[in-house]
Amino acid sequence: MALTFEVITLFPGMVRGVFSESIISRALKAELIQVNFTDPRDFTTDNHRSVDDKPYGGGPGMVLKPEPFFKAVESIDERVTIPPEKTRRLLFTPQGRPLKQKDFRNLAQAECLYLLCGHYEGFDERIREGLGFEEVSIGDYVLTGGEIPAMTVIDGVTRLLPGALGNEESIADESFESGLLEYPQYTRPFDFRGMKVPEVLLSGNHAEIEKWRRKESLRRTQSRREDLLNDSSE
Ligand code: ADE
Repeated sequence: MALTFEVITLFPGMVRGVFSESIISRALKAELIQVNFTDPRDFTTDNHRSVDDKPYGGGPGMVLKPEPFFKAVESIDERVTIPPEKTRRLLFTPQGRPLKQKDFRNLAQAECLYLLCGHYEGFDERIREGLGFEEVSIGDYVLTGGEIPAMTVIDGVTRLLPGALGNEESIADESFESGLLEYPQYTRPFDFRGMKVPEVLLSGNHAEIEKWRRKESLRRTQSRREDLLNDSSE
């Protein structure tokens, strides 16, 4: 069963790019994933096809109107046949819960992901309250919209699907999968501009190599991301 991404965006062209190269493009061709785009602007009724308006109470900027977003989501609900318990509905906002690798693993179990992107301005609160979406963030910084966060989820979730990467083992050792950052990796040449590969990696002693990798993982996590060592949620 393919995982279907239902992307709701005013700028589908931005998100299409992630499906046209490399691993994600291969996954699409292999039908591990599918994607549909829905543009809320197609659900406006006024001559200007406006999707935003001035905020009640005054203040700078514009606010995304509820109607085009509700209608866009309802049009997907009518078309999609995947049951709600196999569907997750995400709304991207810097005010959302920060996503972690563990969340990507859970999202990869779903059969359908609704990805709702705003752009520039805030959502009318009734979009947040009335559509039953989980509000999620990809980090503590502000982007121009939810399109890059949506691409982040598409990329991070697709690579976890069985068959997407080719080499299933490669996931297990990665950063965050064990709660630690990944250990240093080397390939040939042994000596590059005077920088040599650690001898233990040439020893052929697999127990010693494992021990070294674990130690380097811990050392790297301790010095760069001490917060991960105290994080029981991983
Ligand atoms: N929209 C703008 N910035 C964002 C962020 N950091 N995460 C999710 N959605 C966003």
